[in-house]
Amino acid sequence: MRRKVLTIDTMNANVKKVEYAVRGPIVIRAVQLERCLEEGVKKPFDEVIKANIGDAQAMGQQPITFFRQVLALCTYPDLLESHKFPDDAKDRARRILQACGGHSLGSYTACAGVARDHNAGAVFKERRDGGISCDPDNIYLTTGASDGIVTMLKLLTAGEGRTRTGVMISIPQYPLYSAALAELGAVQINYYLNEEKCWSLDITELQRSHLAAKQLCNPRVLCIINPGNPTGQVQSRQCIEDVIRFAAKEHLFLMADEVYQDNVYAEGCAFHSFKKVLFEMGPEFSYIVQLTSFHTTSKCYMGECGLRGGYMEVINVDPEVKAQLTKLVSVRLCPPVPGQVVMAVSVQPPQPGEPSHAQFIKERTATLNDLAQKAKLTEDILNMVPGIRCNPVQGAMYSFPRITLPDRAVKEAKAKGQEPDMFYCMKLLDETGICLVPGSGFGQKDGTYHFRMTILPPADKLKILLSKVQEFHVRFLEQYSASA
Ligand SMILES: Cc1ncc(COP(=O)(O)O)c(C=O)c1O
Repeated sequence: MRRKVLTIDTMNANVKKVEYAVRGPIVIRAVQLERCLEEGVKKPFDEVIKANIGDAQAMGQQPITFFRQVLALCTYPDLLESHKFPDDAKDRARRILQACGGHSLGSYTACAGVARDHNAGAVFKERRDGGISCDPDNIYLTTGASDGIVTMLKLLTAGEGRTRTGVMISIPQYPLYSAALAELGAVQINYYLNEEKCWSLDITELQRSHLAAKQLCNPRVLCIINPGNPTGQVQSRQCIEDVIRFAAKEHLFLMADEVYQDNVYAEGCAFHSFKKVLFEMGPEFSYIVQLTSFHTTSKCYMGECGLRGGYMEVINVDPEVKAQLTKLVSVRLCPPVPGQVVMAVSVQPPQPGEPSHAQFIKERTATLNDLAQKAKLTEDILNMVPGIRCNPVQGAMYSFPRITLPDRAVKEAKAKGQEPDMFYCMKLLDETGICLVPGSGFGQKDGTYHFRMTILPPADKLKILLSKVQEFHVRFLEQYSASA
């Protein structure tokens, strides 16, 4: 018999190294438990509450009406005759359709995105970045931010052995980064965020990790997530300046993942875009530092994860490289056009005086206020539990509390070949139906344990979730601290 061409031994070895905790074994188990409940199997809980993934609308966040109206009109233009839609939504839909091949959303767009979206992106950036100009040719529409991040990492990865591209990523990290680096065979360089200082980024730690990595590879890229996932911190302006100075000095390409830019809750914190800070630091930096920033429809008040919209802006990248980038994205034809529509509309939402403005502001404010309250609630309740310590959730959609695990639990987990926080989260899931992600899936300092939970469940469910975690943790400590 002929052997199969594709087997686990012959497949791409880099793919086997890829891990993605957010949808890992915990979630597989959660789905099994949901099925058991549906089939009437008795469990110590009535429902599985998922707080493992930043999927806002799956957790009840409402879409913005204006965005959906424009999308509906673009998808089914007969609705342009309907009186149920406001004029500004109709105008916007007509303009978008005008820019689509055959005036239809079903046609491919230019590979970097439908032309009008380019302009919309540019307008938004200029507004957000305090009037700093934006060249529409620097904007590439993407299939969510993930696509843009992977595309840029592809462009940047080169060399062999000691000359192989090294990419600096924060630990804890969002596992898209480690997964993409594993797939591309790039070298992952870890720099650790400072948990004691609210998960802030220390330049001395960047220096340490960069210096150590230089012995092994060619560090060329520095990735920053701000506001942070999984750690929920918001970087200060000073810190961003320091990072830019460091990138300039060490000749690093900056990748700024700014997908949570509207998700800032804590008093005294504000979002500063890397681009704005870079340009305000003057030509000494703004002419030389290469930067790409990423945005998405999936986060902020939009929460339109399933539409797969996003864009990136590349700064100080040579025209020849942009031509290569355009070629690379052209191979995949174009990002989903509904996602492009929502991205375009969200960067240029209804303006004062337009019919939909008041409702847009009301809906956006309600969503962001609700998230801010849940961020505080999460921090407050978790910090009441002995053995759990949670930094303020300054932004994004997650808390990443540290959990103390008794030695006996750690030993039992290791005997089972499990990470101790995986052991903890599995037990939590089996006993309470709460689905969280172990900190080990994001990376953490050796000997420390965490879990990541989203703040997305509706407030009543979030309270139930937090009180179940509280009870479980106390029980867990009792069970494993008692002498055997
Ligand atoms: C920091 C960060 N970057 C990028 C992404 C990718 O999002 P998407 O591809 O849906 O835009 C996520 C998703 O959770 C994220 O948290």
